[in-house]
Amino acid sequence: MSDLINSPAWNALKAHYEEIKDTHMRDMFNDDPERFEKFSTNFNDILLDYSKNRITDKTLGLLMDLARQSDIEGWRGKMFGGEPINCTEGRSVLHVALRNRSNQPVMVDGENVMQDVNAVLAQIRGFSERVRSGEWRGYNGERIKTIINIGIGGSDLGPKVVCESMSPLAQRGLKIHFVSNADATHLVETLKFVVPENTLFVISSKSFATQETMLNAHSARKWFLDLVGNEKAIARHFVAVSTNIEAAKEFGIDPRNVFEFWDWVGGRYSLWSAIGLPIALYLGMDHFEELLAGAHDMDRHFAEAPLEQNMPVILAMLGIWYNNFFDAQSHGIMPYSQYLQGLPAYLQQLDMESNGKTIDRGGHRVDYLTGPIIWGQSGTNGQHAFFQLLHQGTKPVPSDFLIPALSQNPLGLHHRVLFSNCLAQTKALMLGKKYTEALAEMEAEGMSKAEMEEVIQHKVFDGNKPTNTIMFERLTPRTLGAILAMYEHKVFVQGIVWNINSFDQWGVEYGKVLAGQIQQDLAQPGDVDNHDSSTNGLVNYRKKFYFKNLDTRKPD
Ligand code: F6P
Repeated sequence: MSDLINSPAWNALKAHYEEIKDTHMRDMFNDDPERFEKFSTNFNDILLDYSKNRITDKTLGLLMDLARQSDIEGWRGKMFGGEPINCTEGRSVLHVALRNRSNQPVMVDGENVMQDVNAVLAQIRGFSERVRSGEWRGYNGERIKTIINIGIGGSDLGPKVVCESMSPLAQRGLKIHFVSNADATHLVETLKFVVPENTLFVISSKSFATQETMLNAHSARKWFLDLVGNEKAIARHFVAVSTNIEAAKEFGIDPRNVFEFWDWVGGRYSLWSAIGLPIALYLGMDHFEELLAGAHDMDRHFAEAPLEQNMPVILAMLGIWYNNFFDAQSHGIMPYSQYLQGLPAYLQQLDMESNGKTIDRGGHRVDYLTGPIIWGQSGTNGQHAFFQLLHQGTKPVPSDFLIPALSQNPLGLHHRVLFSNCLAQTKALMLGKKYTEALAEMEAEGMSKAEMEEVIQHKVFDGNKPTNTIMFERLTPRTLGAILAMYEHKVFVQGIVWNINSFDQWGVEYGKVLAGQIQQDLAQPGDVDNHDSSTNGLVNYRKKFYFKNLDTRKPD
């Protein structure tokens, strides 16, 4: 049995679960009129209401005991102090340095990295301002009107969620696209609507070796050269963001247009680095810096607030409560904001690539559940798709509901409707509907006894479904920066409690190697038998179609 499962704090929570598991939140609210005041906290304009959780003062105390037993404060210090806490790759984890607006020195291997960080920020400012002002032009003198970011995973999802959610701040006349998928459709469909003369490609890849990104980058380059026919023009239309400067140069990018970052920045934590270049291009450097400032605010809060008032710690420990004691398998992210529709996908990578682990820091198989399945959708759309399962399904899905108090688009009654739906859902999930309440409703509708008996059980809702509500004044770069950093630290805290390394992703690497082998098999005619029978069968089935009539088709 692992030390964690054996530990006093874990066992105390296990015993407490038995005490509390049948208590209904409805009664908790009835018994304590101060429950909202007690279980909510503010930071800047962000309110976290966690009162609709299956907790009491005692639960929270025990969860914080577990956090302290896991030495969250110590590990937090190690991360901010640049210690190589990514133990399987021997690397520091210093995305916090990228948004360190205090400029206090941050040391990696005895060197202050802030000089390099600030130099790249200045380079981003210089370049983005030249593009946005029209000083930087395409090869024939045309102003840049379209930016296409080519990247995947952290080199796509972070800048994409920020650009999408802040689109009202974008420069007029400037368009941005994000191409990530190896499926050529993604690139082909994007290129259909653009012209090379006013398009700037940003090739974003930490490694500059990711197959999908390199494939898309080379295809984009070919498209460009086929239309323009001038190698020299590449320098005006292709820039790169990478830790691998040499590979970017080899691709043909002018070294002055390569924006660097460092191996102490994980891919899924990289939007604060030069990977944020598309943000600066599309929204302007001032807004990118506001985003960094918001994240830095949250870093200070995470580093300084007592655990009991620390938003990332509270969210993390509530997640552990459901994941490990209620056996909840997933966690929902429901942004009631169309601008934040990309948030669930962004948080999927952040959380699931970080904490989807089975082996602990000591190399042992864990005997407890680690990271949950993250999923969700913007409200109110989700209500008409999968919320039925949240209300009456058999699986618990603790969820975060995010909503701005004020809309960016105050049109008629839209925001009032959106807002009331958000609150109605969390209220219904918490309260449920009792048998007597359902009966009274049906009686009021004038239903007969026989009719009521037939359907009443279907109209009863258990309730007692936990949610957090995260409300903020309005969606600004600063608030978004703080929210994204809040989730990063939540994931960090959970990883520490579960004693796993949240900063590697070996599972993903394994898939990449196998894809390379299968790719080679697909290139040759004739059946293969070197895999398992399923993989052989699937490879051979595809070959049957591929090699038939190959002479009349373009090979792919
Ligand atoms: O999916 C694995 C991964 O390494 C992610 O962690 C990363 O964000 C993504 O691939 C892209 O990697 P790169 O930026 O090196 O192209």
